[in-house]
Formats: sequence, C-alpha cells, structure tokens
Amino acid sequence: MNTRSKIGHCGRSAALIGLIFTTLGGAAPVGAQSAAELFAPIAAVMKHPRCLNCHVKEGQPPLQGDEGRPHRMKITGGADGHGAPAARCHTCHRDQAVGPLVPASPTWYLPPKEMAWQGLTESELCRKLKTSIDGWSREKTIDHFENDKTVVASWKGGPDRSKVSKPEDRVDFLKAVGAWLDAKKDCP
Ligand code: HEC
Ligand code: HEC
Repeated sequence: MNTRSKIGHCGRSAALIGLIFTTLGGAAPVGAQSAAELFAPIAAVMKHPRCLNCHVKEGQPPLQGDEGRPHRMKITGGADGHGAPAARCHTCHRDQAVGPLVPASPTWYLPPKEMAWQGLTESELCRKLKTSIDGWSREKTIDHFENDKTVVASWKGGPDRSKVSKPEDRVDFLKAVGAWLDAKKDCP
C-alpha cells in the first residue's frame, strides 16, 4: 500500500543557506544525465510523506504520519483548502510552531488541485511541477524548495513522523533541483 520513498532520517535543516549558495555554483555538468536521472532525486522528495500528506489527490483530506493515516479528528480541507468552518487549519497550525508536535507555517493549508501529487508517476510529477513553476526564475524555484516556510517546517519531521533528509542530503537535493532547471526542466 505504502510505496512512498524516504531519503533519510535525522539531522537539522536550518542554518544551510550560505552553504547552499556556494555549493550550487559547483554543480556537475548535466549533459551526461538522462531526464529520469535528473528528476529522480526531486521525485523522491515530492513522494515523501512529509510532502504528500498535504499534496494529496484532488478533493482528499490531509493525511498524517509516515503511513499516511487519516488526520486526527477527521479534518478536511473544506471549501477553500483551509479547513471546515469549525476546524480551520490555523486554529492548530499557527504561523510558527509552538513545539515539535504540530508543524506550522503562515501558509499551512491544502494546496490547490493543480498541485495534487499523490499517486502520480515520476513522469507525471515532473510535468505537474513544471507547469506549476513555469514562469518562476531559477532563483525563485530554488528559493521555494530551500526557504518556503511550509517546506522547511514539514522537512524537519516530528515526534511521530520522519524527516525528509539529513542537512547534507538537503544540500544535494538543492543541487539536484539546480541541475534539473539547467537541463530546461526536462521530464522523463
Ligand atoms: C501544509 C500542507 C503542505 C505541506 C506539508 C507541503 N506543502 Fe507544498 N504547498 C502547499 C501549498 C498550500 C502550496 C501553494 C501555496 C504556496 O505556495 O504556499 C504549496 C506549493 C508547493 C510548491 C509550488 C509548486 C507546485 O507545483 O506545487 C512546491 C514546489 C511545493 N509546495 C513543495 C513542497 C515540498 C517539497 C514539500 C515537502 C517537503 C511540501 N511542499 C509540503 C502546502 C503544503
Ligand atoms: C484541531 C487541531 C488541528 C486542525 C484544525 C488541523 N490540524 Fe493538522 N495536525 C494537528 C496535530 C496535533 C498534528 C500533529 C500531531 C499528531 O496528531 O500526531 C497535525 C498534523 C498534520 C499533518 C501531518 C504532518 C505529517 O506529515 O505527518 C498535516 C499534513 C496536517 N496536519 C495538515 C492539516 C491541514 C491541511 C489542516 C486544515 C485543512 C489541518 N491539518 C487542521 C492538528 C490539527
């Protein structure tokens, strides 16, 4: 049932910003890698439960944990993705986390249907991402993966859920995003 991949555990994701911008400049030449190879590390993150638990199939409620169990208290996205009137996401998921248990960010709500990733193949994920970020500059795209508050908050994991990766793997991931962008967002 659970086919989601994980690329690692433990470690902290903060305090990487300077390091990432120095290492990105040294990315390997991309010509030798196929579209599938270039996109694989990005797909591995997009398919991680920390991301898929919100980027669920269209019309589906948010999920929790590594096994993607239903969110406690049968939370749904409601009409606007921010939750039903009596259970808005921000009631519990504040702008900033008050502790490690409840992840939080100013944009903690369900993504629009165009960003539903659950159940897609790597090729479909690639095309969907490409459509969403068309028109974004290279810097803006890398910045979203690196600094977006929702991505950063969910990347860390928590007491009942694994981290997306260790900090050193996060640097590699951001380099992989850069290499894919340099290959003109080529898709498998
Ligand atoms: C709380 C739910 C939530 C979680 C968890 C989440 N996202 Fe998102 N994501 C959103 C929302 C809402 C948007 C659209 C609005 C925005 O950009 O803030 C979005 C947009 C995006 C986009 C913009 C383009 C697109 O096609 O979706 C990317 C890239 C993205 N998320 C990556 C990630 C990654 C990587 C993770 C896991 C580390 C993740 N998200 C986890 C809610 C979430
Ligand atoms: C009544 C409080 C409450 C509301 C409302 C709420 N959540 Fe949560 N949510 C939690 C708590 C508490 C946790 C984490 C701890 C646990 O239950 O294990 C959590 C965890 C999550 C996770 C799990 C992270 C992961 O990867 O395992 C996601 C995703 C999530 N919520 C999304 C949402 C979205 C989207 C909304 C609004 C549509 C929402 N939540 C509304 C309390 C709430």
